[in-house]
Amino acid sequence: MSVNTLTLQPDSNGIARAAELLAAGQLVAFPTETVYGLGADARDGTAVAAIYAAKGRPSFNPLIVHLATINAARTFAVWTDAAEVLAQAFWPGPLTLVLPLHANHGLSSLVTAGLSTVALRLPAHPTAQALLARFNGPVAAPSANPSGRISPTKAHHVLNGLSGQIAAVIDDGPCDVGLESTIIGLDGPPTLLRPGGLPINGIEAALGAPLVKAGDAISAPGQMASHYAPRAAMRLNVHHPNKNEVFLGFGNMACDVNLSETGDLIEAAATLFDALHQLDALARPIAVAPIPETGLGLAINDRLRRAAAPR
Ligand code: TXA
Ligand code: MG
Repeated sequence: MSVNTLTLQPDSNGIARAAELLAAGQLVAFPTETVYGLGADARDGTAVAAIYAAKGRPSFNPLIVHLATINAARTFAVWTDAAEVLAQAFWPGPLTLVLPLHANHGLSSLVTAGLSTVALRLPAHPTAQALLARFNGPVAAPSANPSGRISPTKAHHVLNGLSGQIAAVIDDGPCDVGLESTIIGLDGPPTLLRPGGLPINGIEAALGAPLVKAGDAISAPGQMASHYAPRAAMRLNVHHPNKNEVFLGFGNMACDVNLSETGDLIEAAATLFDALHQLDALARPIAVAPIPETGLGLAINDRLRRAAAPR
């Protein structure tokens, strides 16, 4: 599927158009002070699934939710003293905080990849701020590059990788920092999850304590099978479920929960984590219908294999 990707100016018309596109469930790349982000409405599972499709990501890493204000952050996450200290000291800026999700957060479960925590960031770039204020909602945004390629620091980098796949890019020249945000986990003792554009000595000074270093754990949240494993046993590529099993379907078939009755992989990705939580609550063995190994099917099957892995 190819669309005509618009290049928008960072003026009030361009920002208004970009906000309209986001509200319509479209993908818009925008500058932040770190790198260009590929944005979608974080409450819209189909739009978030389209991010993974455009990037060609073979697995579902949780995404950072971008916000305009600290007050908005408080509505999505359980706020802590450390969060307050770091937000006051470094937001807006190249810092992402991972916090426990608030009840009734309203975010798509694909944004958090089904985790009970969420990554939040207030970018400092004036164009990012203008877009977030105008859109007036949470924007999920990974770096705006195809999976496995270099993060984009100019609009033409974005277009080189994603032209024809996204609705628009706001061109506002090069990014200042050029390195992704520093990610601090606050779901426990403050932990460095990813070194990035904000040096850690300042963060440690603000906290008055050293950070726990998670080493190379950055890929961990997306990779740890335990986060996703339902309590009951799970079988994949099942055509005929056993009587005791609940059946997770795909396409036009009789089943207990269907990822997409029309066999649409974007819809299936948007539904996946909610479906797993729903089936897990039934505490019965789970059988899963075959899902094609194409497009988003690769990431869906990757996640299902992790969930079904022996443990
Ligand atoms: O500077 C940046 O952070 C850029 C701009 C666009 O804001 N964004 C960015 O996003 O680098 P991305 O998707 O490339 O990296 C997000 C990282 C992933 O490594 C992911 O594992 C981690 O954030 N992450 C997201 N949610 C998480 C969570 N709940 N717990 C732990 N890590 C999380
Ligand atoms: Mg990236």
